[in-house]
Amino acid sequence: MKKKETMNAETVCAELQRQRDLGVDLDDILTLAVSLLHESTPRFHWTGIYELFPDRVLRLGPFLGAPTDHVFIGVGEGVCGTAVAEQRNMNVPDVTKAQNYLACSTATRSELVVLIRDHEQIYAQIDIDSHELDAFDPAVETEVEKVATWLAVLYRERESVGVRAL
Ligand code: SME
Repeated sequence: MKKKETMNAETVCAELQRQRDLGVDLDDILTLAVSLLHESTPRFHWTGIYELFPDRVLRLGPFLGAPTDHVFIGVGEGVCGTAVAEQRNMNVPDVTKAQNYLACSTATRSELVVLIRDHEQIYAQIDIDSHELDAFDPAVETEVEKVATWLAVLYRERESVGVRAL
């Protein structure tokens, strides 16, 4: 099988760190992270971040790609809400076979959800859709996880200074 090209988390995180060092706040860092991820790989056709709020609802934050009806997703609903409920990342190679799948676009064939978390504490998630079947190999998932880990540190910092409790 032809090896798929893989995004490079080090490049993404280095740019995020550079912006952070310049004083850019978390919300703008999230927007930049979405943009860098989206542009990193041609088969990322929709890239966004959902944040988990205290009412146990995911709310859509920055995203690139087609507009979606799924701006609010309850924990346990869809692939995104299931990732939170089961506290695990979801790599869905064929969305037609996923129970509870909430369609963002009829063109989507596969989906990757990576939690932004600090152990049990889930802050948000990176959601990526592709028009290709099985678009997310383990190497890609690992790189997206590295970006999620980097973002989790920022969420933890914000929580510790009490700007917004998530
Ligand atoms: N497919 C997701 C909903 C989000 S859209 O893909 C942007 C889900 O099943 O939870």
